[in-house]
Amino acid sequence: MRAVLILALALASPAAAQDASRGERLFAENCVVCHGAEGRGGGPMAEILTVAPPDLRAIAARRGGAFPEIEIARIIDGRDPILSHGGDMPIFGRVFGGYDTLMREEGVGTLLTADEVVDLVMYLEGVQD
Ligand code: HEC
Repeated sequence: MRAVLILALALASPAAAQDASRGERLFAENCVVCHGAEGRGGGPMAEILTVAPPDLRAIAARRGGAFPEIEIARIIDGRDPILSHGGDMPIFGRVFGGYDTLMREEGVGTLLTADEVVDLVMYLEGVQD
């Protein structure tokens, strides 16, 4: 697994950055309703959605083995809008704490996002099949 370098900016607490166990907790609170407790889909809300929530343990498998950290962060914070996450009204970009944590993915670039989003990305990267 590739490590992400996180640089906390002025307002962000460095201790809070890159904490997969907090990501796991945030996942339980915000995501299992659709993605299921294990992240494999089939959460209680899944049956009323027209698009089935994908298996989030197979993000890398769907992309030939690489886990795209910045792409996934943009999906979660709402900048790469998908309808089920609120589309033009992103749900989680508002819920989580703003764009104050710098995420750096080797060979890809940087992204300013919320530290909660970084923790969720860390959690998801750690549970890939
Ligand atoms: C209201 C239901 C719902 C909730 C809540 C939800 N998701 Fe999703 N999510 C979906 C659906 C449906 C898709 C697939 C949408 C599509 O492909 O158009 C998706 C797609 C994704 C993807 C893209 C996967 C890929 O391989 O491209 C990621 C990552 C993701 N969700 C993470 C999360 C996280 C993290 C949370 C909690 C913060 C969350 N989702 C909450 C329904 C939901």
